[in-house]
Amino acid sequence: KTLTIGLIPADGIGKEVIPAARRVLEALPEGAPKFNFVHLDAGFELFQKTGVALPEETVERLRAECDGALFGAVSSPSHRVAGYSSPIVALRKKLDLYANVRPVASARGQKDGKPVDMLIIRENTECLYIKQERIETTPSGEKIAWADRRISEHASRRIGRMAFRMALARDALRQKTPEAERLWKGPPTVTIVHKSNVLSTTDGLFRETVRAVQGEDPAFEGVRVEEQLVDSMVYRMFREPHCFDVAVAPNLYGDIISDGAAALVGSLGLVPSANVGDTFVVGEPVHGSAPDIAGQGKANPVAAVRSAGLLLEHLGYTNEAARIYNAVDSVLVKGNLVTPDLGGNATTDQLTDAICRQL
Ligand code: NAI
Ligand code: MG
Repeated sequence: KTLTIGLIPADGIGKEVIPAARRVLEALPEGAPKFNFVHLDAGFELFQKTGVALPEETVERLRAECDGALFGAVSSPSHRVAGYSSPIVALRKKLDLYANVRPVASARGQKDGKPVDMLIIRENTECLYIKQERIETTPSGEKIAWADRRISEHASRRIGRMAFRMALARDALRQKTPEAERLWKGPPTVTIVHKSNVLSTTDGLFRETVRAVQGEDPAFEGVRVEEQLVDSMVYRMFREPHCFDVAVAPNLYGDIISDGAAALVGSLGLVPSANVGDTFVVGEPVHGSAPDIAGQGKANPVAAVRSAGLLLEHLGYTNEAARIYNAVDSVLVKGNLVTPDLGGNATTDQLTDAICRQL
């Protein structure tokens, strides 16, 4: 089987870590699918040159030719630039990538730091991020700002299904690893993150809808369902991250807890994500374009490499994905090649070579 993968390095270190991820995919041993790579443009630098951040051709070729894609990072400016909007945000919309899936895990065998092996699934399309904001001025001249928050059954149901499916998929993968190396010993577990003690209508609907998903499929009955209020979720995640398997949350809470969780494993350069829809997947490192180190060959490629693993996992190639995760973990645990973000002086290429050799 040949997989056609769109590569969109975009800006800054995206141009360094996406080629690294490509090399790792190509280093997969005999038996893995063959890869056909399609190079596609997007980004702020492209916008500065051409006035377009996400060319129509990029979207069209992803739809028409590709099984999935890898996206690097964009250098979105913090001030408003006329005519510019983030290409990755646009891509998520155009391809209806409604789930943002972020595994946060310590390397297997890692001795320092808290052990963590969790998967955060963030709803990617609604909640407060529908950006329905308005401002009113009272007769006495005081301003009041409002924002609407949308929680729909439809969006909650499909993100809930994703959470149950992923909990089962993780469990299946776990069964293949030796008992001693498994961090999570319990049954597949989904923790619903909400605040329905206060927001009983919106968060209440999210909570009930995700819970109800369990009744849809006999396979889901093997999943344990837990709940955690979002504030105590943050507290527990830092105190005892090993207590979580899959966590599912509405957009805003998911955004906050997933960035927070990334701090648990030591560097943004380690954390991958996937934007997942029913018909398409885009793997994407969580980090940005890192202008402070771009062009110096010292970016940590692990987040991008693990994102390539996630992409394969979502395309159904779980064995190949596991190979990539294991190769990365071995190299990290060996500890003789360490990039500057983790206190060493290894280069992007050296680390990538080591991962390829390990494969
Ligand atoms: P950043 O993630 O680019 O960098 C934060 C810090 O982490 C920097 O010191 C950087 O050197 C370091 N870092 C990040 N990834 C690394 C890696 N792989 N290896 C080693 N060190 C790494 O976030 P920042 O600085 O807030 O944003 C820079 C630009 O990136 C901005 O224009 C922002 O809009 C954009 N950005 C884009 C994202 C995306 O494409 N999804 C996500 C976050 C930021
Ligand atoms: Mg964020």
